[in-house]
Amino acid sequence: MKIKFSLITRRQFLNTLFGSSLIAFFSGTLYSLVKFAFPTLGLDPDYVVLDKSDFSNLPNNSTQSFAWGEVLGIFLKREDGSMAAFRGVCTHMDCNVAYRPKDKKFYCACHQGWFDDHGINIEGPPPRPLEVFEIMEAGDKLIIARKGVEVDLAKI
Ligand code: FES
Repeated sequence: MKIKFSLITRRQFLNTLFGSSLIAFFSGTLYSLVKFAFPTLGLDPDYVVLDKSDFSNLPNNSTQSFAWGEVLGIFLKREDGSMAAFRGVCTHMDCNVAYRPKDKKFYCACHQGWFDDHGINIEGPPPRPLEVFEIMEAGDKLIIARKGVEVDLAKI
């Protein structure tokens, strides 16, 4: 069946096709250049250095958030006074988790996932525990580091 009238001309169609190809090409090129210039962009750090004073007055059974690269980090002071630090991102589909002091657990609202206060996945769809970090102190600094990462405290 032949269409008698077209809303766009052949020239308009080809121009749109050509323009779209150019935009796709330059977007890909720009993305590659940015990733080449900044290879760590978007990656998690090995450790972060924080001011100890920001965490020293934290009451038991409460949390304080911090920036873990570009994602949420959660510092927890448990009911018994012990401390832990977690990557505050759910292991199911990367939603942020929140600590529920009443339940003494972390909750992910995206799909009702639960983690205990040690970061262990205990209910819902999360397949793995939260990532737990090492906590170190150096003078007035608090260093939160990935497990197994060597931090030269003398340089901090
Ligand atoms: S993203 Fe957390 S339970 Fe699905």
